[in-house]
Amino acid sequence: MTQEVRAVVARSEGNPVTVEVIEVPDPGPGEVVVAVQACGVCHTDLHYRDGRITDEFPFLLGHEAAGIVEAVGPDVTEPAVGDFVILNWRAVCGECRACRRGRPWYCFATHNATQAMTLDGRALTPALGIGAFAEKTLVAAGQATKVDRRVPPEVAGLLGCGVMAGLGAAMNTGEVRPGDSVAVFGCGGVGDAAIAGARLAGATKVIAVDLDPRKLAWAEEFGATDTVLASEVDPVEAVRELTGGFGADVCIEAVGLPAVFEQAFAARDLAGTLVQVGVPAPDARIDIAMIDFFGRGGRLKPSWYGDCLPSRDFPMLVDLYLQGRLDLDRFVSETIPLEGVEEAFGRMEAGEVLRSVVSVGHV
Ligand SMILES: NC(=O)c1ccc[n+]([C@@H]2O[C@H](COP(=O)([O-])OP(=O)(O)OC[C@H]3O[C@@H](n4cnc5c(N)ncnc54)[C@H](O)[C@@H]3O)[C@@H](O)[C@H]2O)c1
Ligand SMILES: [Zn+2]
Ligand SMILES: [Zn+2]
Repeated sequence: MTQEVRAVVARSEGNPVTVEVIEVPDPGPGEVVVAVQACGVCHTDLHYRDGRITDEFPFLLGHEAAGIVEAVGPDVTEPAVGDFVILNWRAVCGECRACRRGRPWYCFATHNATQAMTLDGRALTPALGIGAFAEKTLVAAGQATKVDRRVPPEVAGLLGCGVMAGLGAAMNTGEVRPGDSVAVFGCGGVGDAAIAGARLAGATKVIAVDLDPRKLAWAEEFGATDTVLASEVDPVEAVRELTGGFGADVCIEAVGLPAVFEQAFAARDLAGTLVQVGVPAPDARIDIAMIDFFGRGGRLKPSWYGDCLPSRDFPMLVDLYLQGRLDLDRFVSETIPLEGVEEAFGRMEAGEVLRSVVSVGHV
């Protein structure tokens, strides 16, 4: 039986999002319905609202979520009804050429629900195939990853996107090793997670670079050992000075701007690694001398979703949280009701928060 639930919808380009009553079908084969408990507000939701991702309005926003599995489709063996899950946008298929070669974190055919959730009978496009600013959502079974229920949903949900992207940029893509020096350019939620990931992986020098002194103060709370205020000093020179004149072993770009990419490229030690996790605008270009690319050696690596494997990484990161070794609480700047998403976009753009998290049912 189709259920009616409240949800945050972007009906048309650039206009404020609204809370609507949408229809959620019963789960079919390979699908589950999740009662959402919490969902973080991510930049990508705003990009959808503004028509910068696709023009397939109306969008059902929200994708950094945790909740309880309410119902499962006829053939679903995992997860089970009552499981506490984090939603993910990388439900690996197991059959594409990346999966077959043993590299499922690059899966080229990830699963989403096949039935549509609807608004007045019209199909909604769920953000990143999830759509979780809603009391309930329909996803593919593989998009719901079971984790220990002792972690609060507001915190767990963050692992579903930005925080995982940052942690994984350092731990998976950057392959940070004990004793490495790491410089993180851009210290929003993603950059701070990269700082936390670098610390977890054993980096002994973790340099935070940002234009905003407030962001640098927060970065120190996540474990940055040094800070560089890029509005006042040349960040490339500053990173070199802090690393014995050589540059950092791993530089992580968490802004998405060509100028910052070029800084991160130049601030690497010889044979160092550049990780690009910030999402660039479609028309952004980079211009680096080919001899510098060749001559410096090392690796330039884009990182989508922190090259994570949800079934491997979510339970492991939750364990680290429960052991007090990964401070996820600090990312939650505020909890808000479903009605607060549009205002939270404003605070996000003003740089006032790391993460606003919708607590579903909270009024
Ligand atoms: N690759 C992925 O899978 C993935 C996943 C989620 C988010 N992202 C992307 O990561 C990026 C960061 O996301 P966020 O939520 O942390 O954003 P944010 O806006 O909270 O943080 C960006 C930070 O960069 C700083 N900054 C801006 N210009 C700078 C400059 N020239 N030099 C140094 N710092 C500068 C800002 O002051 C801010 O602190 C975005 O592009 C986002 O779309 C990528
Ligand atoms: Zn695959
Ligand atoms: Zn996101």
